[in-house]
Amino acid sequence: MAVTQRHRIAIVDTDIEFPCPETMSVLHGMAQLGRKGIPLGCRSGGCGVCKIEVVAGDYERAKMSRAHVSIEDEAADRVLACCIRPKSALEIRVIGKINRAFPEQIKNTI
Ligand code: FES
Repeated sequence: MAVTQRHRIAIVDTDIEFPCPETMSVLHGMAQLGRKGIPLGCRSGGCGVCKIEVVAGDYERAKMSRAHVSIEDEAADRVLACCIRPKSALEIRVIGKINRAFPEQIKNTI
């Protein structure tokens, strides 16, 4: 029986990290932190609230709407957390409305 690998996801400029299995979206893994304000919108790439930037690491991506992720975004690893699954440990920056759930990152980058 195959064992699902879990990876460590770290949010840059904060002390926050969480585990995420390869079979789960990064947004889903993040939601398990139980933090107030993590937007669990459509969870399928339609609303754009969960936009993040992957600073380091490998991930698998599902199709994302061009309304929320441009070609330039995609080239710069700016993606929707609900549409990616980790293939290694990741470092991410929260950049969409989701960043309201992580005031530590905003404070550290100002
Ligand atoms: S939750 Fe809607 S795009 Fe990710």
